[in-house]
Amino acid sequence: MTLLSSVGKKSLMALSGMLLGMFLIIHGIGNATTFFGRNAFNTYAEKLHSLGFLIPLFELGLLGVFIVHILLGTTLFFQNFSARPVRYEVDKSSGGRTLGSRTMPYTGVIILIFLCVHLAQFHFIEHSVMVSDLVKTTLQQPLYALFYSTAMIALALHISHGFWSFLQSLGINHPKYDSTFHIGSLIVTIILSGIFILIPLCAMMLTNFLL
Ligand code: HEM
Repeated sequence: MTLLSSVGKKSLMALSGMLLGMFLIIHGIGNATTFFGRNAFNTYAEKLHSLGFLIPLFELGLLGVFIVHILLGTTLFFQNFSARPVRYEVDKSSGGRTLGSRTMPYTGVIILIFLCVHLAQFHFIEHSVMVSDLVKTTLQQPLYALFYSTAMIALALHISHGFWSFLQSLGINHPKYDSTFHIGSLIVTIILSGIFILIPLCAMMLTNFLL
């Protein structure tokens, strides 16, 4: 099996997805400190920034993983598309697949658009205000809160299939443990996307959010 074979591409896709999933878990845990007030969130952000030169190194690695994941995802999407038999009026190709699995390419595009806006707002800026004020003033604008909540729903769908697909592509799954893996990936998805969806909702609805 070479890395450019179909199986190789799927394995790389799963591996890059797993690394992105690990980033999301860390980012989600860090962001969950917003629920404990501005001091907790700012302390977390300061700790993160105190890692110094490790941060640009980590960000470079993350960028590389994102690029691999997006390029492979696009390649696999077009490969699957052209390999698909002629469509009949009743499309049976979705039989048995979950909503998360069927919408992977589309939720992927939504997440990519989200990421461009997100990084422009929170990352590629002059860090002259406290990070808690930045998050609060951004997410308290209804349009951004709506944009974030919608993107986080797309993220939930994407990772609902992603975690499961990762186990399958790496051959870690086994009929005996299938239901355990399914439940495990569902629990991780619900907790993680719950955190990400709750943040813009809290920002919109709670007057004391990040106070
Ligand atoms: C409500 C949800 C989210 C909030 C409140 C949030 C908040 C933040 C903040 C404050 C930063 C800047 C960190 C700093 O420099 O101090 C950041 C960076 C970043 N976020 Fe998010 N984020 C959210 C969701 C996401 C999601 C879903 C993704 C990925 C799909 C993501 C990817 C990133 C990346 C790649 C960075 C830059 C790397 C870094 O500085 O650690 N974020 N986010």
